[in-house]
Amino acid sequence: MASKKPVRVAVTGAAGNIGYALLFRIASGQMLGEDQPVILQLLEIPVEGPQKALKGVAMELEDCAFPLLQDMVLTGEAETAFKDANWCLLVGSKPRGPGMERADLLKDNGRIFVAQGKAIDAVAADDARIAVVGNPCNTNCMIAASQARRLTPERFTAMVRLDENRGRAQLARKAGVPVTEVSELFIYGNHSPTMFADFTHARIGGKPASDVIGDKAWLESEYLPTVGNRGAVVIEARGQSSAASAANALIDHVRGLTTPGAVHSVAVPSQGRYGFSDGVWAGMPVRSTAAGYEAVTSYAMDDFARSKIKITNDELVAERDTVKEMLG
Ligand code: NAD
Ligand code: LMR
Repeated sequence: MASKKPVRVAVTGAAGNIGYALLFRIASGQMLGEDQPVILQLLEIPVEGPQKALKGVAMELEDCAFPLLQDMVLTGEAETAFKDANWCLLVGSKPRGPGMERADLLKDNGRIFVAQGKAIDAVAADDARIAVVGNPCNTNCMIAASQARRLTPERFTAMVRLDENRGRAQLARKAGVPVTEVSELFIYGNHSPTMFADFTHARIGGKPASDVIGDKAWLESEYLPTVGNRGAVVIEARGQSSAASAANALIDHVRGLTTPGAVHSVAVPSQGRYGFSDGVWAGMPVRSTAAGYEAVTSYAMDDFARSKIKITNDELVAERDTVKEMLG
């Protein structure tokens, strides 16, 4: 059936919760297309438990007899996992537990991205694209990108698509319409409670969301914290961090970036856009192109939006200061 050249997809933390919700969807063609063969290159920490669990996941993948899954590599070595990889999905890292903020993970998780950023730069394919999920994902992405000399920073993106999906669902629920009626809802800044889910430009059924909702106080004081704190609320309810919705968002993130014309929220090197400090990775709308993507810079922000962007930018700058010794 499949005649295209296979795409090599490296996934870290492959035996973890997100990995388990993700790999089967990649292998079935939901991420890269139903005619696109894939080779999965799966990384777990090189100790017995995770390596054994990884073997079990690989057995299940094999048992699905996915026509598109051409091969699998199971490894504890980053250089093997990222060898010639076209996509590097960096999921592996510690999740937070109840009562923690994502930034509390910085010191523990940050160093993972130093080593992996170096390995990716050394061995991944020239067209490699990197998507960081492990938290705090914006700053981990910055750390990984800072190690690279061959691959340009634009190739390193972090995931704010779960926040976009959450934001769209909450607007649809409030308006009592299907989620497909919500458009132009984009996430700015950090994947943290400071993120700005920009309802000021969102549309519902083609009309301004603010007009359809008709309740500014709800948008500013209930909607934004609901979207921003959703990860913590899920952790509180499940006792574990969101996994299936995160895997789903990662599928959306990659599909968006491989679908020319798609406009969606991605954390990218800010380059000073929308008032973000140069050098931080900030969520913003991007439009995918045949060659990659370009940031959409046409949204004019009002004073409220600017004040929200300042708060999330300040946090990104503070995170960068915390990890300055990890930046290559
Ligand atoms: P998990 O603990 O279930 O799985 C993580 C896996 O990563 C484990 O199997 C672990 O052995 C592995 N791992 C740890 N360090 C590694 C390394 N250096 N190399 C390779 N593998 C390594 O966690 P999870 O629920 O899958 O979450 C993974 C990460 O994703 C967490 O940091 C979590 O906070 C984050 N997350 C981000 C978003 C987002 O929207 N950006 C959403 C949900 C979760
Ligand atoms: C989420 O948003 O669900 C993840 O980032 C997990 C977390 O720690 O909130």
